[in-house]
Parts: sequence; structure tokens; C-alpha cells
Amino acid sequence: MNILLTGGAGFIGRWVARQLLGEGHHLWILDDLSNGRKENLHEFEGHPGLEEFIVGSILDEKLLEGLFNAHNFDICYHLGASINVQDSIDDPSTTFNNDTVGTFYILEQCRRHNTKVVFMSTCMVYDRCNEETGITELHPTKPASPYAGAKVAAENMVLSYYYAYGLPTVVIRPFNTYGPFQKTGGEGGVVAIFIKNELNGLDLNIYGDGTQTRDLLYVEDCARFVVSAGFSDKVNGEIVNAGLGKDISVNDLALLISGDPKRIKHVEHIHPQSEIQKLLCNSDKASRILSWKPEISLEVGIRRTREWIQSGGLA
Ligand SMILES: NC(=O)c1ccc[n+]([C@@H]2O[C@H](COP(=O)([O-])OP(=O)(O)OC[C@H]3O[C@@H](n4cnc5c(N)ncnc54)[C@H](O)[C@@H]3O)[C@@H](O)[C@H]2O)c1
Repeated sequence: MNILLTGGAGFIGRWVARQLLGEGHHLWILDDLSNGRKENLHEFEGHPGLEEFIVGSILDEKLLEGLFNAHNFDICYHLGASINVQDSIDDPSTTFNNDTVGTFYILEQCRRHNTKVVFMSTCMVYDRCNEETGITELHPTKPASPYAGAKVAAENMVLSYYYAYGLPTVVIRPFNTYGPFQKTGGEGGVVAIFIKNELNGLDLNIYGDGTQTRDLLYVEDCARFVVSAGFSDKVNGEIVNAGLGKDISVNDLALLISGDPKRIKHVEHIHPQSEIQKLLCNSDKASRILSWKPEISLEVGIRRTREWIQSGGLA
């Protein structure tokens, strides 16, 4: 298949690229490198399936038009987005443009070329979880930050193209994802930052009281889920979650990674108003219609991430 992957030079995108290339598809990657890195794609240099890596923006309508006219994409995996909650609070315009307007431009091209759209949303659109059975796709959403608001708006547009035009589209909502190639600096994910600090003998800083929980999904499990959504007709017009199905408090995560309570510090939360107190995924729908299940436990995932960071990562 001819596949366009936006955000392919990012953390999750490079794993999605890896799987698609491994399955023998023809792949075009579009990324503006605002948060991605060319180095994330080094492994695939010279791969016969990697047709082109285009450094450019989903906001460039002319560029998109040229790409879609030239290559007749069967599927577009749309991962390109601004992903940082705090950045979205400080500068909502960038997040809204990339995550909502950019998605609209992608949809318009897909409509013209009848290209299937796999839209990468996020668990951050959900309201806090109150049940031990976890968050299903019917759980209420709450746009607690402009990041979540921009994703919900884009999700609605993606589903409207299914209803109004019969375009095959799907909204996927992976839970917090971690693993090798995630950035370990301030803009990275909590697992990567904690491991990096632990290895460097630094304190692990927790925002707020640390009782907030996360359902942490290993990145190769996430990529397998993302790819499978592109090849199933049953998911068209649907919203589908993916997570580990277990949540852990940030306090317990810090202890699991460091083992030394003295190294764990609590600092004032930077955006308490946009925090989601409990995130626990119910992936029954993904299991039912995609036969997808997570395979990597948190302990194994943390070990693999630590080994990658220890071996130098890309920092
Ligand atoms: N990391 C997570 O825990 C998580 C969980 C659920 C969903 N997601 C979603 O998965 C996707 C990938 O996230 P990630 O964690 O790999 O982040 P990332 O920042 O590493 O990847 C996003 C990529 O999109 C690119 N990008 C941003 N704006 C662009 C634009 N205008 N044009 C082209 N490319 C652009 C960035 O350069 C980056 O490479 C995002 O849509 C994110 O919302 C992430």
C-alpha cells in the first residue's frame, strides 16, 4: 500500500514507520521537525520501502495537494501534532493550528483522494476515571487543556467526514505512551524523564501530590495498535482506545524507577487545573474488533527504556 505518515520523525511515529516498513509498504513521511528528529529515522535510511522523507508542514496546503496528487495514498496515518499540555496553555494558537486546522487540511486531501484516515487522538481528552473497570470510549470527554480541546475538535471533524462523505476514518485514543526514542528532557514523557534523572543521580520531581494515575502503554504495543487500525474496515467511523489496562500513581512510578524515596521530591504543579486525576484504560473494544492486546508489561517496558537511555539514546 501507499501510505502517508505525518509526524513520522517523532517518538511514536518512528515506531509506526518501523512497523509499516517491516510489513513491506511504500511509505512517505511528512514532518516539520518542530519536535521530531531526523535521527529518529536513521535506522531506515536506504530502506527500499521508504519512498520519501519530506520536511514540511501539514499546514502547507500546496505541499499536501502535490503529495496527494502524486502518490494516491491508500492510508494516511495522521500523527503530526503539537503534543505538550503546558505549551498548549501558554500558546493555544500553535496547538490549535497544528492539531485542529492541520487535521482539517489532511481530511480535505483524503476526501478528494478517498484515502483512509487514521487520526491519532489521545486519552487526554477524557474526564477523570471513576470506575475500576476503566475508561471505555463512551466515557465523558473534558477539554481540560487547549491540547485536549484541539484534539476533540479534530476528532469531530474526522468523524464528520465518515458520516457526511462515507470516507473511511477512525479516531484512536492511545493512553500515555513511553519507550525508547521518547525525549528525556523537560518536554519528554514522565517515564523517560524519571529514568534519565535517576541515571544522572538527580531528584525525581513530581508535580503536585503524585496521587494522579497514568495507564502507561509501551510504544511498540502502541505502534501495533495504530497500524492495525489502518487495515481494519470494522473500525471505520469508530473511536477506539488502547492502553495497558493498569494504572499507576506517579508516586509509585517514581519509586519503581528510582527505588530510593529520598530522591523523590514533590513540587508545585504547573497546571493543576488541567491535570486528570485518574486515567485507566479499558481496551475491550480494541481487543474485540482489532484483536489487539498489550504485550509488554510496565516492568519490561521500563527496563527496555532504561537500557536505551543508558546506551546513549539520542540525547
Ligand atoms: N506520547 C504520548 O503519550 C501520546 C499518547 C496518545 C496520543 N499521542 C499522540 O500521538 C502523536 C505522536 O505523539 P508523540 O508522542 O510521538 O510526539 P512527537 O512530538 O514526538 O511527534 C509529533 C510529531 O509531529 C510533528 N509535527 C508537529 N507539528 C507538525 C506540522 N504542522 N506538520 C508536520 N509535522 C508536525 C513533530 O515534529 C513531531 O515529530 C500525536 O498526535 C500525539 O497527540 C501521544
